[in-house]
Amino acid sequence: MPVVTQSEGMSRRELLSRSGVVATAVATVPLIGADALAEEAPGEVGVRMTVNGTVTPLTVDPRETLLDVLRERLRLTGTKKGCDRGQCGACTVHVDGERVVSCLTLVATLGGARVTTIEGLADGDRLHPLQQAFIDHDGFQCGFCTPGQIMSAAAVIEDGRARTDDQIREQMSGNICRCSAYPGIVAAVQQARKEMR
Ligand code: FES
Ligand code: FES
Repeated sequence: MPVVTQSEGMSRRELLSRSGVVATAVATVPLIGADALAEEAPGEVGVRMTVNGTVTPLTVDPRETLLDVLRERLRLTGTKKGCDRGQCGACTVHVDGERVVSCLTLVATLGGARVTTIEGLADGDRLHPLQQAFIDHDGFQCGFCTPGQIMSAAAVIEDGRARTDDQIREQMSGNICRCSAYPGIVAAVQQARKEMR
């Protein structure tokens, strides 16, 4: 699936330029969510993705980012908009289990995808181990970067790439914390990693 990950570090302008292919494709091929096409206005495309376990059919402008759809249309405002250009990690969510920066992910490419945001991480009233660990270790100050930090850490732990403090710092380097809560973040990831094994 042509989503853009943090590590690729592409600016939004570059992405939109490269994804001219997306605009061309959606104009010619009924590639996404054909059952949602009936409601489309000219220039829009239908897309049906699953967001936090709920099937979510939408009609979208091919230029709309996942971040804007999550925040502005689905009111899932836990995902934060920091730089809006792939540089801070505040908007990190999971698409099919992989972390992506949602500000550089065009929602029109996500037909059939499974999207998880910070709102979908807890088990009912029970916090995810990472959420509890961030509280236990003061892994935040203002908290603005925290949803992205937690989503990024969840993917890194699942992939087994966060065994040492150095690995955690390296793998989480795309998630910037302006409050410099990094020692607490590393400690929190270590605690959660042990609980998630
Ligand atoms: S990386 Fe998406 S808002 Fe900064
Ligand atoms: S806690 Fe403030 S930016 Fe990270």
